[in-house]
Amino acid sequence: MTHQDIRKKYVDYFIRHGHKEIPSSPLVPENDPTTLFTSSGMQPLIPYLLGEPHPLGKRLVNSQKSFRSQDIEEVGDNRHTTFFEMLGNWSLGDYFKEEQLLWFYEFLTKELSLPKEKLYISVFEGNKDVPKDTESYNIWKKLGIPGNHIFFYGVKKNWWSRSGVPEAMPPGEPGGPDSEVFFEFTEVKHESQFGEKCHPNCDCGRFLEIGNSVFMQYQKQEDGTLKELPKKNVDFGGGLERLVAATENEPDIFKSSTFKKVIERIQDTTAKQYSDEKNKHSMRIIADHIRASVFLIADGVVPNNKTQGYVLRRLLRRAAVKMHDLQEKTNEADFESISEAIIETYKDVYFQEQSIKKITEIIGLEIFKFSQTLDRALKQFEKLSSSELNGLNAFNFLQSYGFPYELFVERSNQRGYPLNDTERVSFENAQEAHKKLSQTLAAKLFKGGLADQSEMTTKLHTATHLLQQALRTTLGDQVRQKGSHITAERLRFDFTHPKKLTEDEIKRIEDLVNEKIKANLSVKMQVMPLLDAIKEGALTVPQANYPEKVKVYSMGNFSKEVCGGPHVDFTRTLGSFKIVKEEGVSANTRRVYAVLN
Ligand code: SER
Repeated sequence: MTHQDIRKKYVDYFIRHGHKEIPSSPLVPENDPTTLFTSSGMQPLIPYLLGEPHPLGKRLVNSQKSFRSQDIEEVGDNRHTTFFEMLGNWSLGDYFKEEQLLWFYEFLTKELSLPKEKLYISVFEGNKDVPKDTESYNIWKKLGIPGNHIFFYGVKKNWWSRSGVPEAMPPGEPGGPDSEVFFEFTEVKHESQFGEKCHPNCDCGRFLEIGNSVFMQYQKQEDGTLKELPKKNVDFGGGLERLVAATENEPDIFKSSTFKKVIERIQDTTAKQYSDEKNKHSMRIIADHIRASVFLIADGVVPNNKTQGYVLRRLLRRAAVKMHDLQEKTNEADFESISEAIIETYKDVYFQEQSIKKITEIIGLEIFKFSQTLDRALKQFEKLSSSELNGLNAFNFLQSYGFPYELFVERSNQRGYPLNDTERVSFENAQEAHKKLSQTLAAKLFKGGLADQSEMTTKLHTATHLLQQALRTTLGDQVRQKGSHITAERLRFDFTHPKKLTEDEIKRIEDLVNEKIKANLSVKMQVMPLLDAIKEGALTVPQANYPEKVKVYSMGNFSKEVCGGPHVDFTRTLGSFKIVKEEGVSANTRRVYAVLN
């Protein structure tokens, strides 16, 4: 069964049981500055779980796009992903355990036809504050689950809140005991490295958690106690990708239909096989990280050094490193192609035609930038001795190669030299010191910039106007400004013109500017409506945005331009003008550099 089939069956089943479908919220929470990402279906529903009435009623269902950056290290095994879709249904103070467990059981066994003998259950064993959940145990028994398929666990496994165990919940946070369902892959053999005996929560891969019914009936109080909410809620969540894997009896979700196209594309681009054990880990990380990136970008995140953008950057750069491990090269075309395979997998459900190109372009550009330095970064890394695997070098790698701290740590771990907390502190100190230094430099530059403006740059600015008119007089009126950049030393002027200037043309242009300087034209400024300025023949910069009223600077009858200023009062103060360089920028654009002496 494909992801499309299961998503639809689930939503339809719960609609038949009186639920209303709500849309998936974006991956970046809209009204919750406390968390970076939407990481479960319940997150956008917190106010309603705490008692506020929901406009669509007390029974809700959806498939929620979710992202858990805290799971990034887990990716690489047969079942963890950072991005996933969570099928969810909620009772806001309406039905409770009896209905919830029956419906989910019916959905699994009837709608998805999962064999009931492959289902295992966990329930809460109780603690000092909350009693053992014998009620759920009895319901599962009544539904036909044998006692030896039902396991009791404590708060670490069978308590759910966004922050984990009750002690970790901040005041105000809702949570409660839960009951999970696991699917057993009978072909997977338990390995003793995961513990003497296998059980539903064992990490060996034989059991896969496919759904979690949280009985969200408590709220943490300021005094640290748990108080029953006025109404008891159900918050169910089940990973769609895992349900697909269970229906396909495929213990490796990366081999299930959800990831089929993506893994195939990675195999094609790298000419390596997923079935080869040594490639699996990297290919899973690449598939997961690019998939997550595609969904994050579709929801408006772009790679940068802040909050969500930094997480996205980390995902893409980590995928780039894994790609490099597979084939000693990383190029943007491969990443674009893998992104396309992801978009193809989901296009009926999520992606708008017009955004597809943008998503692949953003990914391509980030990889292009990083791949320029990646090769060198990895080579340099190999040269570091164990004592050089420290926080300071982690900072140097970030500065020189854009190599995220977490990647430096990961690579050090791979070499058997984990970085301890002291190294993290020295990395952070180096980063802080660098930030301060750049701020000081920026402040100095800013000051210097203002001082320049007062004299040399003002003169060069006035010279730029004279230059533009001299170019037009000499070369023709097709000359228009394309760009202008002035420093205290020189002016740089880009303009439309199809061919290289001859020496003779350059000389005539210089002479004309110098003639106008010597004529000591007075520079006049007038404020007028933009349309009047244009009617009077004042030059504008094509494509620039101007306000309705503008300043117009004119020098005698020679030059007239819309411009913000400032300028000198009389042209003679410019001294003498010289073009020092002429070059092409693109097919129809030339550039000149000029100085004043
Ligand atoms: N909130 C619970 C979870 O994330 C169930 O939806 O597992």
